Amino acid sequence: MKLFTVAALAASAGAFTDLQTNLQSAVQTVLQHSESRKPNILFVITDDQDLQLDSINYTPLISKHVRDQGTFFTNHFVTTALCCPSRVSLWTGRQAHNTNVTDVKPPYGGYPKFVERGFNDDFLPIWLQDAGYDTYYTGKMFNAHTVDNYHSPHINGFNGSDFLLDPYTYSYLNSTYQRNRDAPVSHEGEHTIDVITRKALGFLDDALEGDRPFFLAVSPVAPHSNVDPDAIEGGKISMTLPIPLKRHEDLFQDVKVPRHENFNPDQPSGAGWIRDLPKQNQTVVDYNDLFYRSRLQALQGVDELVDSLVTRLEESDQVENTYIIYTSDNGFHIGQHRLPPGKTCGFEEDIRVPLFIRGPGIPKGHVQDAVTTHVDLAPTFFHLAGIPARTDFDGTTIPITPDFEAERHEHVTVEYWGSAVAEGAFSGIGPQGSTLIPNNTYKSVRLLGEGYNLYYSVWCNNEHELYDLSTDPYQVNNLYSNSPIESSDSPQILGRNLNQAINRLDALLMVLKSCQGKTCIQPWDVLQPVDNVSTLRDALVEEYDGFYAAQPQVSFDWCGEGYIIDAEGPQDPLTSRYGVSWDVWV
Ligand SMILES: *[C@@H]1O[C@H](CO)[C@@H](O)[C@H](O)[C@H]1NC(C)=O
Ligand SMILES: *[C@@H]1O[C@H](CO)[C@@H](O)[C@H](O)[C@H]1NC(C)=O
Ligand SMILES: *[C@@H]1O[C@H](CO)[C@@H](O)[C@H](O)[C@H]1NC(C)=O
Ligand SMILES: *[C@@H]1O[C@H](CO)[C@@H](O)[C@H](O)[C@H]1NC(C)=O
Ligand SMILES: *[C@@H]1O[C@H](CO)[C@@H](O)[C@H](O)[C@H]1NC(C)=O
Ligand SMILES: *[C@@H]1O[C@H](CO)[C@@H](O)[C@H](O)[C@H]1NC(C)=O
Repeated sequence: MKLFTVAALAASAGAFTDLQTNLQSAVQTVLQHSESRKPNILFVITDDQDLQLDSINYTPLISKHVRDQGTFFTNHFVTTALCCPSRVSLWTGRQAHNTNVTDVKPPYGGYPKFVERGFNDDFLPIWLQDAGYDTYYTGKMFNAHTVDNYHSPHINGFNGSDFLLDPYTYSYLNSTYQRNRDAPVSHEGEHTIDVITRKALGFLDDALEGDRPFFLAVSPVAPHSNVDPDAIEGGKISMTLPIPLKRHEDLFQDVKVPRHENFNPDQPSGAGWIRDLPKQNQTVVDYNDLFYRSRLQALQGVDELVDSLVTRLEESDQVENTYIIYTSDNGFHIGQHRLPPGKTCGFEEDIRVPLFIRGPGIPKGHVQDAVTTHVDLAPTFFHLAGIPARTDFDGTTIPITPDFEAERHEHVTVEYWGSAVAEGAFSGIGPQGSTLIPNNTYKSVRLLGEGYNLYYSVWCNNEHELYDLSTDPYQVNNLYSNSPIESSDSPQILGRNLNQAINRLDALLMVLKSCQGKTCIQPWDVLQPVDNVSTLRDALVEEYDGFYAAQPQVSFDWCGEGYIIDAEGPQDPLTSRYGVSWDVWV
């Protein structure tokens, strides 16, 4: 397009040799321009979309445009399975224990806490603007970002923004959006996906018109539950089935929640309040299947939204210079471990989310199984934008190409404070609703390495879980509680007995629960700085048994609703000087 314009101008100027010279320099200018222009980023983040329950197999257009045209990161995890903390971690590149935004509302979280912690002047869109990007956002940003506080202060960092506001964020048919510095506007009677599609395409046009590279984030609420503000009474929120677009409401009539081994099992599983859940009756199971279908139907709108965005991008000259990244803020469970619909747990359903990346240099149709997390996304955006990483990032660049040389990690630090949220009609408070379940405070480490696939957690009531996902992918057999006494046929991990493995996992969790920057990425260096240990496998050698047996244990003194250090037991692990002698780490 640009070439043609320049050529036409040159042609009208006359002589053939002039034309040739002009053409050559024009070609050069365009090449230089496109080489020097940093890549654009289109970031789509859905709300509460699972990976484990197959949602991605019901979005053919997202598969066609993003998954098949790029790389699917099959071991991608969130670090806190709740919208607001997860999003703040994503936008800052820090674990929730470092943002201390750990809930959806004050005093421990929500937009006011984000502002109070100073992040409104120090987060991704601002860093991208500083690096020369035009930044745009539409959809849900945070929780407790409301029609009353949206201007005190406004969210910084965006050249154009149009945010969904509470209490109408999840009101599919009566959403409120708030554009730039304008007053909030109610969209009563319109479907939220129709509204966001219009807004996102508008920002994409603005972004494409500019001369600078752009970052456009689009955050639809689907497939989150529907929440209508008039039902919010006395702190109890009514969370009902997500509402699809009319044209999608009859789809998938025969589809049910996958009947994995952990679906409404005969035996209780999990820890804490989860172990006390009763087996669900047929009425509840049927409702959960309906809930599942409604989610898939609601996601169809997102599928079409992505189709519209990518189609528009393909019509521009920037498609080859744009990364398209698709993910969700946290996962979701329905009926697993007898749970009502919801998130907030440490199970695979809640912490694994889709991640697809397509763009310049990213292999097409590729599957990448390296362990990656949401705190790796900010460093990854920095890498794509050619900005040097910050030392306060708790994550590291995702290996976007197979030969990518970067620090890898085999662990995910999973953390949660406060209440679990049960959603839907059978959540506990009657015909419609949601229930807050206290004491859902826990810390865990998810570990995937050569020859092991583990989840280890410590709850605030000091219950523990250990699942060996290589033999128990659905996490129904808690090895910690089931094998207190070792015998010759007890399960082993890498040929060592469970106690030895647990000693290492606990020490690792001790580091991770208060890690910062580098120590979040290379936690074994805190424990064994002079030994050559960077994986569980390295740490499991017998020589180190005494060192790991001497470690203080991760524990809680009480169940805090937020990150209250006093509640969280010992803070510092021992550090080894020479593998066999050790000191307190400071
Ligand atoms: C976007 O905002 C940045 C920071 O305020 C500014 O430097 C840049 O010129 C803006 N871009 C456009 C297209 O207005
Ligand atoms: C839709 O939201 C507006 C506020 O933005 C409110 O005034 C109106 O009553 C709501 N409509 C319904 C049907 O709840
Ligand atoms: C099934 O369980 C739900 C939730 O406990 C209860 O409200 C309902 O009455 C039960 N239905 C039957 C048919 O037992
Ligand atoms: C450290 O261990 C790795 C395997 O974990 C091995 O490849 C490497 O050679 C070791 N380095 C040293 C200095 O021992
Ligand atoms: C939650 O934990 C607190 C203290 O840690 C305890 O006092 C309380 O009984 C627990 N509540 C429930 C519902 O288990
Ligand atoms: C996190 O925030 C809460 C609420 O403001 C506060 O009580 C707590 O001490 C903070 N935690 C840390 C580690 O600063």
